[in-house]
Amino acid sequence: MTPTAEALKQRLAASPTVGLIGLGYVGLPLAVAFAESGATVIGVDLDVRRVAAVRAGESFIEDVPAESLARLVRAGRLSASDDIGTLSEADAIVICVPTPLGKSKEPDISFIVAATDAVAGIIRRGQLVVLESTTYPGTTQEILVPRFEARGLIAGRDVFVAFSPERIDPGNRRWTLRDIPKVVGGVTPVCTTMVAELYATVMDQVVPVSSTQVAEMVKLLENTFRSVNIALANEFAWMCRKFDINVWEIIDAAKSKPFGFMPFYPGPGLGGHCIPIDPFYLSWKARQAGFEARFIELAGAVNGSMPHYVVTLISDALNNVRLPLRGSKVLVAGARFSPP
Ligand SMILES: NC(=O)c1ccc[n+]([C@@H]2O[C@H](COP(=O)([O-])OP(=O)(O)OC[C@H]3O[C@@H](n4cnc5c(N)ncnc54)[C@H](O)[C@@H]3O)[C@@H](O)[C@H]2O)c1
Repeated sequence: MTPTAEALKQRLAASPTVGLIGLGYVGLPLAVAFAESGATVIGVDLDVRRVAAVRAGESFIEDVPAESLARLVRAGRLSASDDIGTLSEADAIVICVPTPLGKSKEPDISFIVAATDAVAGIIRRGQLVVLESTTYPGTTQEILVPRFEARGLIAGRDVFVAFSPERIDPGNRRWTLRDIPKVVGGVTPVCTTMVAELYATVMDQVVPVSSTQVAEMVKLLENTFRSVNIALANEFAWMCRKFDINVWEIIDAAKSKPFGFMPFYPGPGLGGHCIPIDPFYLSWKARQAGFEARFIELAGAVNGSMPHYVVTLISDALNNVRLPLRGSKVLVAGARFSPP
């Protein structure tokens, strides 16, 4: 290991300064976790209201208790700014910006590009940069690395670059940020060592993989797995209705099998990022490589048709009591939007 790498490794293991770019569902809980672990944390966001809220110790994310935030801000462990320049002295910079879809369901990585350009403007030798935003395989290598190289900084030698997918489940009390194992993959083995060192301070288990592409793909497999299985449950619900069988009873009985089955449930639609958006990052990238990701497309079509199916059910139910859909008041009970 070079002296630059050795020095960074020691700082990461002791009490590093960590910069977070993007203080949203992913960035703010992570900022608090790093600060709780003894790091000095600087959060940067373009949204000045979010910056002001953090400075005032006010939480806008369900999983972040305002008391913890306020305590860390008061103690000087956590600060917020809209100026990327505040990260020039950070040991590690973690990018947690949005990755939406464009109009034709193509990846919109403009936030990653903008954040990387901003980091490239201030990056210095001996820093670790980690991308956490969910994206297609190859992003870290294709977007981050060349921009740092253009500043004369080689990944694995001068700076350390890695990808680590965020796996939090907002609102989930059973599995919190600390106990969800953290997958990490660096551009080089030294980059992997650095990113593993960083997250070992806040997560109970770190899972190193051989490259950034693998780490990027892990997240997409997880989300595609859920999308496809939810689509299967939705199709079963639809089919069961044709047979007049209760799909919930079937799933309840099937899940008594102790192996080889995992219950997924039908629903009226999908919200958030993970299921409706992320798999399309992968199918887009696959298409570039001349591969049609059929499961992703089919699952997207089945899941996307559920709101219409539910409207049909309501319309049928009204019809049966001689009422039109138009003008009827419908109470929706038990449906909620689960954040990403
Ligand atoms: N929300 C989740 O549960 C979840 C889970 C896993 C992965 N992810 C992924 O993590 C990423 C972030 O998601 P999120 O839910 O935290 O998004 P979010 O919209 O809640 O927060 C992103 C923040 O980034 C800020 N931002 C955008 N560009 C910036 C820039 N150039 N500089 C500084 N700040 C900037 C925005 O103002 C916003 O506050 C996405 O790729 C998402 O797919 C989200």
